Amino acid sequence: MSTTGLVVDRGLEGVVVGSTMLSNVEGKIGRLTYRGFDIDDLAPNASFEEIVYLLLFGHLPGASELEGLKRELGARRTLPEPLVNAMQRFPKTSWPMDVMRTVTSGLALFSPVNERGEHVSDVHVAIELIAKMTTILAAWDRIRRGLEPIEPRADLSQAANFLYMRSGKVPSEIEADALDTYFVLLADHSFNASTFSARVTASTRADIYAAITAALATLQGDLHGGAASAAYNTLLAVETPDRAETYARGVLSRGERIMGMGHREYKVRDPRAKHLEAMAKKLSDYRGDSRWYDIARSLEDASNKVLQENKPDKKIYANVDFYTAPVLADLGIAGDEFTCLFACGRIVGWSGHVLEQLADNRLIRPQATYVGPTAGPFIPISERTQNGVAKK
Ligand code: ACO
Repeated sequence: MSTTGLVVDRGLEGVVVGSTMLSNVEGKIGRLTYRGFDIDDLAPNASFEEIVYLLLFGHLPGASELEGLKRELGARRTLPEPLVNAMQRFPKTSWPMDVMRTVTSGLALFSPVNERGEHVSDVHVAIELIAKMTTILAAWDRIRRGLEPIEPRADLSQAANFLYMRSGKVPSEIEADALDTYFVLLADHSFNASTFSARVTASTRADIYAAITAALATLQGDLHGGAASAAYNTLLAVETPDRAETYARGVLSRGERIMGMGHREYKVRDPRAKHLEAMAKKLSDYRGDSRWYDIARSLEDASNKVLQENKPDKKIYANVDFYTAPVLADLGIAGDEFTCLFACGRIVGWSGHVLEQLADNRLIRPQATYVGPTAGPFIPISERTQNGVAKK
């Protein structure tokens, strides 16, 4: 409680700031549902495209509805040529997340406006953003490697087409399924920081391009989506499974955090982690190389052990980013692209939340308690010293 009697809640922990019909996080029991469907049922059974439909249109699609959505996604994948030309001129060292945020914002330049000169923010623009996000990342992956971007294919799923656009090879079913499941698991997560950011932006009546750009900016930090790339750096640093415990102890002794561990909402293991762990195992079996899976497995055990010793009263377990690292590494994705891949899944939730906000909008504008100095008399500059205080 502040001196003004207003409640101050750093980090808004436990504060309810709105309602949503999109997804529900039950942190104590570790359950995540999309429009009432448990992620444990959706992850092994539903395609990413079905989830896009479910989150944007409110129900699981029938066969022809799904076909219609796939056609629209396929038709909207190609990037405006001037944006691809601009990307060719970016420094090759540019961080993929910077490129994704910049180009996503740039998509607004090529989007039609209505009679009031405003961009339309509707479900079709949402589908366009979902369709193009993976194209941006695949194009940048090739451009920075000195290669020509590959045109998207409309006949492939969102996941398979992304892998195809990187390598020019249609991926195996196991690889495409792994990425598809990853996108399903990442599609939405209630009022997380980036989604909240998108909703705050939309609440000012900024358009969907602005709101998604804001969400991308918020995702970047390593307390949120940036942990995906950071978790990969952790696997690299651990090097071999037998070094996991020494590594985890070293991190804590330096007062740092183990990336991919801990969650504001979940007080048990993140329900998405088990699906990603299973996928990591499947991919490592498929590749005949279990390096990333083995390091991740032993690092999770070691982290649980040392975190329990160091902070017995805190409930810190693996979150979604932990097993993202071995899954995406086994798919051959570069470590600095992991947070972008997160965005390629979460763009669905962001768009759904922006549309939900706009459908029943009220400006989001909280308060802060002022804790600065009390007002003093204004001193004209001629009467101030070099340090800005009143001359004697
Ligand atoms: N490693 C070591 N210590 C941790 C970790 C961790 N991964 N996570 C939390 N703690 C400790 C903190 O140091 C803190 O200790 P203190 O009370 O002694 O200061 C205590 O647990 C509470 O930390 P908070 O940051 O207040 O807890 P919060 O609920 O906000 O934490 C967060 C959530 C930010 C995700 C945190 O667990 C973390 O930093 N994890 C590592 C980064 C990460 O994986 N981020 C991805 C989250 S999932 C997502 O956004 C998709």
